[in-house]
Amino acid sequence: MIILGIETSCDETAAAIVEGKNNQSRVKLLSNVIASSIDIQAKYGGVVPEQAARQQLKTIIPVIKGALQEARCKPKSIDAIAVTCGPGLIGSLLVGVETAKTLSLVWNKPLISVNHLLAHFYASWLTDRIPLFPYIGLLASGGHTDLLLFKNHNQYQYLGGTRDDAAGECFDKCARLLGLSYPGGAQLAQLAEKGDSTAFEIPRPMIGSKNFDFSFSGLKTAVSNLISSQPGLLLESGSQRANLAAAIEAAIVEVLITKTLSAIQTYQVNQIILAGGVAANQKLRQQFKLILKSCQLKINFSVPPLNLCTDNAAMIATCAFYNFKPINPLLLQANPNLSLA
Ligand code: KG4
Ligand code: ZN
Repeated sequence: MIILGIETSCDETAAAIVEGKNNQSRVKLLSNVIASSIDIQAKYGGVVPEQAARQQLKTIIPVIKGALQEARCKPKSIDAIAVTCGPGLIGSLLVGVETAKTLSLVWNKPLISVNHLLAHFYASWLTDRIPLFPYIGLLASGGHTDLLLFKNHNQYQYLGGTRDDAAGECFDKCARLLGLSYPGGAQLAQLAEKGDSTAFEIPRPMIGSKNFDFSFSGLKTAVSNLISSQPGLLLESGSQRANLAAAIEAAIVEVLITKTLSAIQTYQVNQIILAGGVAANQKLRQQFKLILKSCQLKINFSVPPLNLCTDNAAMIATCAFYNFKPINPLLLQANPNLSLA
């Protein structure tokens, strides 16, 4: 089974082709093409929906052609088309959804509609060892922070999520307060490498709450207040900026890990899967591994390769492979508010 995946939920236009045999084996990634309008968006300090949609329109066809070429595939060898139907920016989503519907009708191929959030977990299904159910999945991306218990592919229980800002959004907003450009998560992490995380006290919102919910807006506000209460803090010396970045990163990482550990203590699982752009954070990856080792927990830990943590179409095609449920192309509609809850 060869699946063409299409992803256009935000500012990345992506197409990828995967090939798989059955539910018990991993799929093979034949191509993975991504065009990003992030450089254009960075000028505005965030994503301008109209701009992102216009860039999607410009790049969608070349990106799909690129994915076919890279995989050395002709349209006739594609068995199905998978597309992100939500959540995301409506203008961006529509470009992918309408393109996929058209290709499905013209090429006469089944169409599978994919929830972008669920698909993030399928980046881990592209690693060497396929995950073992049941597992706890932590999705930490720019727009979402969700904790789930997966019993099977299409059988999951929503445990909790953020009540306000997402972990990635918190990274980005704090990065902006530190004078870094959008999206600042990776830059903040880079700055934090040289910093001392104990130099500042940053709150860990809801870390002790008896549920699996998160809240990050207070953390961002605390950083904002700290910077305004100490004029010149960021100008004093480079090290204070790095220290603050390290303290912010440590706080976000500690909250994410504490909640996930609490979930594995509550539910009997074989594995933890980290997903979403924030899963690219090295501190988060290292700390998770260290803690699981020090607690001697016999739980597999799976995190996608860095290029598959952030938005891509390989995860869309893979999610469709393991959740193969074609729908009538004429009935598919983009849903910007789709959730996992
Ligand atoms: O999953 P993703 O590509 O897009 C959404 O679906 O939201 O996630 C993007 C988010 C951004 O907030 C970005 O700053 C964050 O992931 N991110 C990171 C790192 N790399 C990307 N955050 C912290 N550390 C990183 N290394
Ligand atoms: Zn995403």
